[in-house]
Amino acid sequence: MCGIVGLVGHKDAVNKIIDGLKKLEYRGYDSAGMALVEQNSGELCVIKTAGKIANLEHEAHSKYKGAAEAGIGHTRWATHGKPTKENAHPHATELVALVHNGIIENYADLRKSLLAQGISLNSNTDTEVVMQMISLLLSKGVAPLEAVQRTVSSIRGTYAFGIVFKQHPEMIIGARKGSPLAIGVNADGKLSLGSDAVALSGFANQVAYLEDGDIAQLYTNGSLNILDKDGNKAARPWQPISKDQSIPDKKGYEHFMLKEIFEQPSTIADTLIHYIGRPSNKTVNIHPSGISWDQTNHITIIACGTSYYAGLVAKYWFEKYARIPVEVDVASEYRYRTPPVHEKSVGIFISQSGETADTLAALRYIRNLGHTCVTIVNIPTSTLAREANVVLPTFAGLEISVASTKAFTAQMAVLAYMLIEALKMRNDADLSFELAKEFLTVDALILNALDTMQGLTQLAKKLSETKDVLYLGRGVLYPIAMEGALKMKELSYIHAEGYAAGEMKHGPIALIDKGMSVIALCPYDKEGLFHKIVSNICEAKARGAQISILTCKKGRLLLEEAELKCPIYLYPDATQLTAPLIYSIPMQFLAYLTALNRGVDIDQPRNLAKSVTVE
Ligand code: M6R
Repeated sequence: MCGIVGLVGHKDAVNKIIDGLKKLEYRGYDSAGMALVEQNSGELCVIKTAGKIANLEHEAHSKYKGAAEAGIGHTRWATHGKPTKENAHPHATELVALVHNGIIENYADLRKSLLAQGISLNSNTDTEVVMQMISLLLSKGVAPLEAVQRTVSSIRGTYAFGIVFKQHPEMIIGARKGSPLAIGVNADGKLSLGSDAVALSGFANQVAYLEDGDIAQLYTNGSLNILDKDGNKAARPWQPISKDQSIPDKKGYEHFMLKEIFEQPSTIADTLIHYIGRPSNKTVNIHPSGISWDQTNHITIIACGTSYYAGLVAKYWFEKYARIPVEVDVASEYRYRTPPVHEKSVGIFISQSGETADTLAALRYIRNLGHTCVTIVNIPTSTLAREANVVLPTFAGLEISVASTKAFTAQMAVLAYMLIEALKMRNDADLSFELAKEFLTVDALILNALDTMQGLTQLAKKLSETKDVLYLGRGVLYPIAMEGALKMKELSYIHAEGYAAGEMKHGPIALIDKGMSVIALCPYDKEGLFHKIVSNICEAKARGAQISILTCKKGRLLLEEAELKCPIYLYPDATQLTAPLIYSIPMQFLAYLTALNRGVDIDQPRNLAKSVTVE
């Protein structure tokens, strides 16, 4: 989603801001801009362009002649107003320029009030309103800090602001509430401002995260003044920026997504090594999470998108093996339905980025009711990680492709570890040991599943010409069917749905004709779901659907005996615990290969953002 970079006191600010914005490209954006106070002319220069950073870079190099020591840059993901140059940030008058992440909820009222005072507005954005309010106060002689303080006190919503002032080329101001904002410092004491540590990784070696309500003044001479929400001086702890927070390269892969798919055997191995020891003598050493499983009789899992599907898989696991009831909900629904929370419930919040606004709001709701909040998160310095009682990192490494792949399988690995720990603590050591032994094979099974990419190219070619794809699964593979459909939608822009196979005849079957492609996730299983889904496949086949079946060797044998003549794709033998991870691989490949055929932007699909910091 939107990204912010701000610099003070750094030489060559133009190029450095552009470098910082390039690091933020992975978050998803539709336009970009920057503002600097030029040293020679003393003018506030603003450049913005729709589309990619390359457009901004081209224009910036032809426009900025003089040096500048203070500047701000922004990548915008449109919320209010189309993704045009006019609506791009910074918004500016001749006195001030401002960039913003977040949403100003009362912007319509504020806009009316500005119009009544004779201020004309040049964009359709909520952000311009804030900038005009600050500018109005500056024009009346109010000092920058006070102008920002007075303005933020009258806005409702979420914000991270970066602000430069024509009359104060030695300073930028940052302010945050709801949306994250961090300050960086390098070895020479030069300061920077960024929406995350990744943005700062090129020009800072330490980072400090602002808290809600903070306003910070950053000066070219390296001094820093932070005021908290009550206007008192505050200090925020510095922490080193780790190597993991800088953008990796593609290592020869055509896309980050493909690189990240192929990294999964090692990312899963890294996650497992951290959490589960090698089982021996009927026991398994487990990393202590700090969760009192023996005191827990209910679990609430909240997340969005792909992370939500990881939560749904865990519902099947915890209910089947640990007999703990699990409620799973999407964060945007959960946070507004003021649900009662079971007395001994643990809240689990799953997120790759750790910045998803709705998931964070749900965590705050459950935390305020006094429950333990656990986050499974890929960015250990994120807001969710800072606000949870227990942080369980996924160790997947920075995920750059907007479509989540390795973070998803790592989330399921952490959830499997939690199940194994819960069983051990709840006096079911034998089952805990058996499941640990079984799950520790999953990285090797994923490695085998990765060999199937080539075999899926023909199917992906067919899918790239189709209009609708129906993914069918049952049990633990129902969430994976939905994840497969989500991946297909976001990457290839083809309509896809994931359905519980048994539910198909309650509606979607009406859509089935020879134009419908059906992908059935159908491994042989001890639980008997294989035979059930085969019946559902027959129902779809009888109505002309183009069926493809993903199964294991035993499944193939039975399907051949039943003379069900459909293309079959083979995957390693799986159990309830390993199947969701193994069958995620073909879901990822099919979406990737289909998108490749359609020639779309795989790592940054249209309209999507990597880090969804607004609700
Ligand atoms: O960072 P989070 O895991 O909280 O993000 C949640 C969703 O926005 C995310 O999973 C989204 O659905 C991805 N684009 C899926 O590939």
